[in-house]
Amino acid sequence: MLLFASSPYWMRKLCLQERNSSYSHARSRRGWVCTRLWLSTLLISFRGIPADKETQPAHIPSLAAVFANDFVIGTAVSTRMLAQDPETRHLLTWHFRCLTPENEAKWNAVNRKEGHYDFSRLNKIIEFAQQYKLAIIGHVLIWHAQVPSWVFTDQKGKPASRALLLQRMRRHIATMLKHTHGKINAWDVVNEAFLANGRFRQSLWFKRIGPDYIEHAFRAAMEADPDCKLIYNDYGLYKKQKRQAVVKLISRLRAQGIRIDAVGMQMHCSLNHPRVEEIEQSILAFANAGVKVHISELDIDVLPLPRGIWGGMLDKRQYTPALDPYRNGLPEHVATKLAQRYKKLFALFLKHRDKIERLTIWGVTDRYSWKNNFPISGRINYPTLFDRNGTPKDAFYEVIRLKKRP
Ligand code: GLA
Repeated sequence: MLLFASSPYWMRKLCLQERNSSYSHARSRRGWVCTRLWLSTLLISFRGIPADKETQPAHIPSLAAVFANDFVIGTAVSTRMLAQDPETRHLLTWHFRCLTPENEAKWNAVNRKEGHYDFSRLNKIIEFAQQYKLAIIGHVLIWHAQVPSWVFTDQKGKPASRALLLQRMRRHIATMLKHTHGKINAWDVVNEAFLANGRFRQSLWFKRIGPDYIEHAFRAAMEADPDCKLIYNDYGLYKKQKRQAVVKLISRLRAQGIRIDAVGMQMHCSLNHPRVEEIEQSILAFANAGVKVHISELDIDVLPLPRGIWGGMLDKRQYTPALDPYRNGLPEHVATKLAQRYKKLFALFLKHRDKIERLTIWGVTDRYSWKNNFPISGRINYPTLFDRNGTPKDAFYEVIRLKKRP
């Protein structure tokens, strides 16, 4: 695997440690998973790993272990969840090997005021990941959202010029990568730069700097941390025109000697959309373009939506009980559909396991999913593999069965 390339020496050494280990079966399975995945970046000490028996019933297989030979299984986390919810914390250390800070590394979380960086929330996630030997995906350096307004404004309160914005962009990227060097080995460098029709999103980055802002961002990241894997991340990448725009971007970057290692397909799906065939075409297109694919934000929305509102946050007045039908629980027939949908998606990802490096589920349990508040706030949604109490859902077992069947 590119992101987590292994060293034969450490593999031999750790396999030996593993064979000699007198730990419990559950613990030794976890050690084996770690051995497979984290050899180059982490020196694994089995003593540092918590006793699984205290955290998860032995009969629940670890998602990460089951797919250890296929891809790294990750999830999105928040500092609030890590600090306040020990049960979910245990769940996540058993099932996942890679964390994406959902908000803590975004520009407005670390650098709200000009000249002042506050890494305290991000550091908590880094410390947690180090404690449990988990990788981190840095998310995100350049995005149109969650950027403080000062970034786009000059000292006179006027729109920042191209030169000023480029300078701020480079400084931000350098500051972030310096801080996370050796702790975060893959970053989403640019998020959501294209529209569904393949044109550039009219973000302030695009309007003030021009289309080459993406090149500048990747170059700055490459120079700031040559060891760090660089990812372009976006939603709706199954769409033909968007897919083509990203394939072109990859060749543009490469033609200028700028590194891009992977494309992150967010994959915020619904029960029927997008079609597996469309997703597959994009996986193939990105792999053919010479990068790895990351499934970076997978979840499945089961709730109804009024037509034509996808993509924009509605305000609370647009909430209606009809759009929130499962407040008292998910009916069995919908749970079954969800399970089948997860199964189909995972089957596709397994088919392309040689191209897919990481699969991140966006949220540890339904309780922590952004989908409870997007695109309408205050609903009860069921997008992940674990219910609000952390119990694996049918979808979890369907996905596991893909590997357990002979
Ligand atoms: C997008 C972003 C993420 C996050 C989600 C909602 O997909 O890439 O950072 O904001 O929306 O959780």
